[in-house]
Amino acid sequence: MKFLYEGKAKIVYEVEGDKCLIHFKDTATAFDATKRANIEGKGVLNNTISSLLFQLLEEKGIRTHFIKKVSDREMLVWRARKYDLEVVVRNITAGSLCKRLGLKEGEKLKKPLVELFYKRDDLHDPLICTEHALFLGLAERREIREMLRMALEVNKLLKGFFRDHGLLLVDFKLEFGKLPDRTIGVIDEISPDTCRLWDAKTGEKLDKDRFRFDLGDLLEGYRKVLERVQGG
Ligand code: TMP
Repeated sequence: MKFLYEGKAKIVYEVEGDKCLIHFKDTATAFDATKRANIEGKGVLNNTISSLLFQLLEEKGIRTHFIKKVSDREMLVWRARKYDLEVVVRNITAGSLCKRLGLKEGEKLKKPLVELFYKRDDLHDPLICTEHALFLGLAERREIREMLRMALEVNKLLKGFFRDHGLLLVDFKLEFGKLPDRTIGVIDEISPDTCRLWDAKTGEKLDKDRFRFDLGDLLEGYRKVLERVQGG
């Protein structure tokens, strides 16, 4: 097993050439890691929730890097060439959308809104448009089209799944990569770190906004998400 990369929340190792092992750490960061903490047990929850959601997407025919969950903190995935893009889908106004456009939080959008961000820490991951992504050579036009199409499809599936479990999918971020078979797949993680999830009845925030804005115990929120999606 060869060490490849350590990020803010994960460590990635290469295994068998075309696969990777993703290790979920207990670190939480926000606002370009200017706020950080170690939260014991977060990695286990994110690996468990991510694995469950990737499996759901795979079952519904969405290509992802997921192969299997191999331990509490680790998932085995296909090695992918990542695009330096973050694709955000929004169903309800929140976060940077409200800040950027002066909107009130919690307004339901008539239809999902998809945004592209350039993955560049030193530039604070700026919002970009398709033409910028093409100009920067981040992906080809047909690849961007495919990512946007897949992101909306993932939104449809996840929104319905969470709603069936009493949760509102407010927004989420996806990353994409080129898998060994050269198809585009969803990579990275899908967890309460990367999704805003609110209790459908009470509106309680159960995601990383708890940490970002000191709204309450992060693990308690993530545990509630896990209990819900496991059918509890
Ligand atoms: P935003 O409202 O801050 O742009 O976030 C939109 C969604 O993307 C939200 O569900 C949180 C997620 N997200 C990440 O996964 N990583 C990030 O670095 C940021 C800024 C947001």
